[in-house]
Amino acid sequence: MKKILVTGANGQLGTTLKKLSPTTSDHWIFSTKSELDITNSNSIKIFFTENEFDICINCAAYTKVEDAEKETEKASEINVEAVQKLVSACNEKQCSLIHISTDYVFDGTKGTPYTEEDPTAPLNQYGKSKLLGELQIQQNSNSFYIIRTSWLYSKTLGSNFYSAILKKAQNGDSLTVVNDQMGTPTDVANLAAFILKIIDKEPAIGLYHFSDEKIMTWYDLAVQILKEHELTNPIAPSSTEKGGAVRPKYSPLISIKKF
Ligand SMILES: NC(=O)c1ccc[n+]([C@@H]2O[C@H](COP(=O)([O-])OP(=O)(O)OC[C@H]3O[C@@H](n4cnc5c(N)ncnc54)[C@H](OP(=O)(O)O)[C@@H]3O)[C@@H](O)[C@H]2O)c1
Repeated sequence: MKKILVTGANGQLGTTLKKLSPTTSDHWIFSTKSELDITNSNSIKIFFTENEFDICINCAAYTKVEDAEKETEKASEINVEAVQKLVSACNEKQCSLIHISTDYVFDGTKGTPYTEEDPTAPLNQYGKSKLLGELQIQQNSNSFYIIRTSWLYSKTLGSNFYSAILKKAQNGDSLTVVNDQMGTPTDVANLAAFILKIIDKEPAIGLYHFSDEKIMTWYDLAVQILKEHELTNPIAPSSTEKGGAVRPKYSPLISIKKF
């Protein structure tokens, strides 16, 4: 039976893993920010001394893409320095680290979907901090999986693109949605299932891309959500607002590392 620690358990991915994790085959410990603040070395030390983990799934992250432009130090503290602290704790205890990264490590100029072998060039501070977190792991971790994913949404949790569009539509509002960025939206439940597969199959350590692999814009996704719920609100495409964090125009992810 593997003992698994999940950090950032109150977030979108952490909550979904909690729902989907098998309680029979493995022993899972879900820690929220108030229980385990990954920026706090002492807190990490206590957690890793009191428990023996085989795997740590880091779902904790600074994820506010716009705010990261101004809060660069805070983004770095959580997405880079804290990741290094987790790497050290994991190495010391021979625990594997599963870490989540983003399509925003790419600049969006490739024109075809990004694979694990493509060069990175983040455009915004969030993407830069996530890439530096990846590099910390690749350079220092003894056993790791970095899973890059994109445009996460949940059909069941609040406060994400899916729920926001649905709420507006069910209120009878007309919708205007950005149509000049292309990506591969990913249901967080599918990402959680992929993480469970990694834990089960133990493929070669390293970097993996995971997305739902259907290329679309945010506008396309909104249209799909309306269709799924048989809603007929007026919906119009729009362009990305100028100013703020620069986002890649085209950042679909595919994987060439099937297992
Ligand atoms: N959402 C996306 O579209 C997307 C796309 C690509 C990749 N990703 C990556 O996927 C992963 C999961 O994303 P998500 O959507 O589940 O993010 P999320 O919903 O924002 O969850 C992140 C969680 O981390 C917690 N956290 C922040 N600072 C922490 C700290 N110092 N110690 C412990 N916990 C801390 C947050 O708590 P508070 O809310 O209390 O701060 C929150 O519960 C992240 O690595 C993210 O970068 C996300």
